[in-house]
This record gives sequence, structure tokens and C-alpha cells, in this order.
Amino acid sequence: MSTDRVRAEWRNRVLAEYTSAAHAAQVLHWTIQCGLPDEIHRVAIRIVGDELDHAQLSHQCLVAFGGEDLPTGLDVQRLALSSAAEGPLASLVDAIVSGFCLGETFAVPLFNAMRVHTRHPMASKVLERVLQDEAIHRGFGWDALDALLEIDPQGVRARVQQQLPRNLAEFHRAYCDFPDVEPLTDEERSCGLLDYDRYIETHDITLQKVIIPWFDRRGIELRDAD
Ligand SMILES: [Fe+2]
Ligand SMILES: [Fe+2]
Repeated sequence: MSTDRVRAEWRNRVLAEYTSAAHAAQVLHWTIQCGLPDEIHRVAIRIVGDELDHAQLSHQCLVAFGGEDLPTGLDVQRLALSSAAEGPLASLVDAIVSGFCLGETFAVPLFNAMRVHTRHPMASKVLERVLQDEAIHRGFGWDALDALLEIDPQGVRARVQQQLPRNLAEFHRAYCDFPDVEPLTDEERSCGLLDYDRYIETHDITLQKVIIPWFDRRGIELRDAD
């Protein structure tokens, strides 16, 4: 049986996926405006569709867990990324780093960890689909960053380096600052929820073993930020 916590989690996922679709659409626009390579545009188009699918599939799970009467609480303001005063290139750099080099890169191992204990057939199917797509989205982020570094190596590197500590602090807050709450039940895990200590562990491992080395490879230092 599902619980209020299961319904709240899947409701948040509907909102997060729909928000990702809106943000990906804005990123697509900026990639076109900045003249990134055509293959980057094509993947960005795919990502918008994937995120809309994820939102729809997550909503089906919410309904399956008895949440159909819950309001979605969508905040239209949060569907738009803010533009940088410096222009579209800077806006795109910020969106790629935060949404993809960090967001999607943290998401892959988190969805993988969620999937391990999920037994509910619909939730399993959704997590499997999301996981497959998120690996592509993660790759898109790092490819787009490489394309941006080719356009303006010094400027992009400096901007990323300057903004990373604040960005990383936000992800740390989102994944590691949980109020003191009751541990999950096996039932809740089987509905696709992940234990809070696993969020922290996955965040820390991904930061150290993936994110820091991948930025480092691009000449972007992160040592102050960890
Ligand atoms: Fe997604
Ligand atoms: Fe995604």
C-alpha cells in the first residue's frame, strides 16, 4: 500500500519533470541562438520530449498510488530560467552547468539507486525509462559544455569556476539536508522512494568520483568547492 509520503514524492517528481521539460526547451532555444553544433540541437530537442514523457509517466504513477486528487501546484514562475545580464552565451553556460553537468549527472546514480528496491511494476518501468534517458541527458550536458569551451575557452572556464561553489552548495542542500524524519518502510522503498542516507552517500560519491574529475579534465578547478 502506498503512503502519504509516496504520493508526496511522486507528486514532486511530476513537478520536477515538467519543470525540466520547460528548462530544456529554454536551453534548446539558447543553443540555437548561440550557434552550437547541429547534433547538440538535435539532442536538446529529444530531451524536451523525454522530460514531457517523464512528467506524464510520473503522473501515471501518482494516480496509481491514489494521488489523483492532489493538486499539482505548478508554479509558472519556476518554469523559466533567469537570463544572465551578460547575454545568451552566459545564460546557456549557467543552465548547462547547473541543469546538466550537475543536475543530470547527480540524477543518474540516484535513479539507479532508487530502482534497486523498487518492486511496484509501474514505478519500476518509469524509473527504468527515466534512467535510460538521464544518461543521454548527462552526456548532452558535458558535450554542450565542451562546445561552449570551444567558443570562448577563457571566459567560459572563468564563469563556471566562479559559479560552481554556489551551485554545489544548492545541490548539497537539496540532496543532503533532510529534516529528522522517520526511516522509510520496505513498502515505500518498493514504490520507488530512496532512503535519505542513500541520497547523501550517492551525492558525495558522485561529486568526488565523477563531477570533480570531469570538470578537472576540462581545466576547471573545484577544490575550493568540495
Ligand atoms: Fe527527467
Ligand atoms: Fe533529464
